[in-house]
Amino acid sequence: MKAYANLVLTGFMGVGKTTLGKMCAHRLNFEFADTDLLLEMRSNASIAQLFAEKGEPEFRQMERRIVAELAAGENRVISCGGGVPLLQENRQALRQTGLVILLSAPVETLLERIGGSTHRPLLETCAETRQQRMQRLLKAREADYKAIAHCKIDTSRYSVPETVEHIVTLYRTVTGMP
Ligand code: S3P
Repeated sequence: MKAYANLVLTGFMGVGKTTLGKMCAHRLNFEFADTDLLLEMRSNASIAQLFAEKGEPEFRQMERRIVAELAAGENRVISCGGGVPLLQENRQALRQTGLVILLSAPVETLLERIGGSTHRPLLETCAETRQQRMQRLLKAREADYKAIAHCKIDTSRYSVPETVEHIVTLYRTVTGMP
């Protein structure tokens, strides 16, 4: 398999992985794959339902199987659910076959983007504010996010088309793709 056969977008909820991933896939003429969408399609249930009915540990195992399957292919833009980097197996599988780009944004930007959305079960908590919850999760994930990434882009610093351009150029340069 060629080096960096896939382009992997990772990072916290709300950084723009799905939006940017679709656009990058279009530009590179790659297949677009989103771990959350695949999980939902295959189980015929929403992420919130999966968390509620199966619990997070089982959700992570389902997610792990999808990641392994996607990483085994090539010419894909893989947009990962925010918790994918938490498992060592996922980090290894994705780094082995992909250029892994960690997308980030300040908490205030993430809060604005996620707004009142209710389909992210990990953020639904009464014990703390959304901001506190995000900050705590981000801190807990910092090391795993760092460990999976080949490079990092702060998506709040550029417009969406600029960010896409940045990612596509980076991928082309690293892989030598024309
Ligand atoms: C999660 C992120 C979500 C989804 C699930 C858990 C996480 O995906 O997989 O709610 O653990 O960060 P997005 O990052 O696409 O919102």
